[in-house]
Amino acid sequence: MKETLLAMKRQASSRRWTPFQIAVHLAALTPLMALAWDLWWGNLSVNPIQDITFRTGKAAMILLVLSLAVTPVYTMFAFRRVLKIRRTLGLYAFSYAVLHFLTYAWLDYDWDFYLIRLEIAEKPYVLVGFAAFLLLSLLAVTSTKGWQRRLKQGWKRVHRLVYVAAMLVMLHYIWVQKADIRQPLAWTALLGILFIVRLPPVRRGMVQWRQQRARSRQQSLSAHMTPSNEDITPLN
Ligand code: HEM
Repeated sequence: MKETLLAMKRQASSRRWTPFQIAVHLAALTPLMALAWDLWWGNLSVNPIQDITFRTGKAAMILLVLSLAVTPVYTMFAFRRVLKIRRTLGLYAFSYAVLHFLTYAWLDYDWDFYLIRLEIAEKPYVLVGFAAFLLLSLLAVTSTKGWQRRLKQGWKRVHRLVYVAAMLVMLHYIWVQKADIRQPLAWTALLGILFIVRLPPVRRGMVQWRQQRARSRQQSLSAHMTPSNEDITPLN
């Protein structure tokens, strides 16, 4: 009985959000709140649907990249708390992608699949976005502990599809632009860096760098703590 109560208490405290997690949720909800604010006060452009499409798409893309930055940040700084927000960021990315898709298919095209088909023939980047969206949906559905148990080793393999989804998103983002592609290229470069730092030799180098930094910090700390000859020489 006592053990069960203790286990329940432990589970309840692990469910409680830390200030860091609360900050992450607030930051992830900011684009939505800003959009609701601008919608309410009529601050959107003359083409509000396009505005909403852009803003939800951008938020989804940024959150996806941030979710992919979690593992490298952990490798570099051993900041354990970031691991807890990886799934949260991924699910927020997916939620914004759902809003992005609904804005397109519902607000813009009123579920008119004939018109959507015509547009896809003219703008294939929509199909690329849709493929990314399908992958993100699969990852969101299978992100639970239950699916982790069910898929066992296969779970990791399925979740590697996030790299394919991210590449498709960048292709979609670049393709959508009519003129200036500097921003999408910068995001693609960042994604490339996040892929490179996952390569085993690079990862090993990062771990070594972290350990070496920790060791030298320890050494300088103990040098400060060890009393020098002057300190132990009697004053008189
Ligand atoms: C569900 C399928 C999708 C459809 C139908 C779709 C459609 C669109 C459309 C129509 C645009 C604007 C094009 C324009 O007006 O010039 C756009 C832009 C964009 N989409 Fe998607 N998209 C989809 C999936 C995604 C996903 C999954 C992401 C990211 C996770 C994404 C990220 C973006 C970004 C970043 C932009 C450009 C925003 C900007 O330039 O500020 N899209 N998408």
